[in-house]
Amino acid sequence: MSAPLFEALLRHAAAGRAPFHTPGHKGNPQALPPELFRLDFTELPDTDSLYEASGPILAAEQEAARLFGAARTLFSAGGCTLCIQAMLRLAAPRGGEVIAGRTVHRSAVNAMALLGLTPVWVLPDGSAGPGLPGRIPAAGVEQALREHPHAACVYLTSPDYSGVLSDIPAIAAVCRAAGVPLLVDNAHGTHLRFTRRDLHPLSLGASMTACSAHKTLPVLTGGAWLQIADPAFAGWVKSAMALFGSTSPSYLTMASLDLAREWLAQHGKAAFAALEDRAASLAQLAAQRGFPQPRGLRDPTRLTLVTAENGLSGEEAAAHLRRCGVEPEHADASAVILLPSPWNREEDFARLARAIATLPAGNAPPPAPSLPPLPPAACSPREALLAPQEAVPPLEAVGRVAGEAACPCPPGVPLVMPGEKITAECAEFLSRSGFLSIKVLQ
Ligand SMILES: Cc1ncc(COP(=O)(O)O)c(C=O)c1O
Repeated sequence: MSAPLFEALLRHAAAGRAPFHTPGHKGNPQALPPELFRLDFTELPDTDSLYEASGPILAAEQEAARLFGAARTLFSAGGCTLCIQAMLRLAAPRGGEVIAGRTVHRSAVNAMALLGLTPVWVLPDGSAGPGLPGRIPAAGVEQALREHPHAACVYLTSPDYSGVLSDIPAIAAVCRAAGVPLLVDNAHGTHLRFTRRDLHPLSLGASMTACSAHKTLPVLTGGAWLQIADPAFAGWVKSAMALFGSTSPSYLTMASLDLAREWLAQHGKAAFAALEDRAASLAQLAAQRGFPQPRGLRDPTRLTLVTAENGLSGEEAAAHLRRCGVEPEHADASAVILLPSPWNREEDFARLARAIATLPAGNAPPPAPSLPPLPPAACSPREALLAPQEAVPPLEAVGRVAGEAACPCPPGVPLVMPGEKITAECAEFLSRSGFLSIKVLQ
């Protein structure tokens, strides 16, 4: 037999590392019922159809809307990416400008390009500590809205990858005063309605949220919810999703969303309260060893060890964790990110505690990169992403127009976006950050 991907997955599974990465079900056989895997059906007279839902899919979506306090909830089997595409389509149907936090996932940049939208960037404030992007400030959003009064909406990511939360109530108030919808990429925060304090952006005033349920809940990869607070958008949301979505959404993934909603309704509060306690004690252990969490308001279930504060790179820390049988979600020069879920097993947490307790101190100086000024835009993301491109070393890219985003970590803020003209300072920063090439327009 030759099935390279299947064989690689089997090998990975055989290594038996404790999974502190997505998906949230953690391969735990108790997270999803085995009969689910016999139900890979399609649109049949009695199974409904995602984009024309009028039967069980609609009923399942309505149950989810009730649980999240939404006017409308839509299933996605195309990840949060499809929800982001639909949100932007709904909020900016005629194109135009979007006020956007610069810490944006590439799915949003791609959607802006496909929809012909022009981003007006608001920079994060660095308030989470060295090496981390920080929060999108309400004052920055307010100023951008003043300077761009015709912007169609405000778009931001909260929580960010490291779990840091922006001040959604304050930003929502600014958006309400300006009469524009607030769209939140809540890919990493689907569970935040069930933490002790409800931190879900929909509960805090967002107009729409894109939620990657599969990242933190017992949902198959690709399962996500688009949550809509404002009934004005509910009417044509299915056609907005159908514009981008596959006509063959996975029924397994959709059924797992339905099951996760039922599990959340029954057990969500207790399960996430217990997870908060576990995360707090692991965070305390890490802090005692000199590896603090990001500063300020954050997802209380996520563990981001800011290793650079103790002279250790995130990559070195991740290598140590793997040697101890723990697989993290992500590591970069300054931090390592772990995604615990209620479906991690006791042994997973015990292994993680042992790994943290034996993390060595390093001797690298903590990175304190301060970003050069944003490069000027030469053309729209759409023109740039759809143009012929070539890859060149950063130092040869000065004066050229970027064909892709380049995001050095730290600080996790895109230095260059598609359509921006690469300055000498940006090129040097990229080169120093280890980028070997960047795509530019031919
Ligand atoms: C912040 C953020 N937004 C959106 C996405 C896209 O989510 P999905 O993979 O569910 O399409 C991701 C994926 O990692 C993400 O980290």
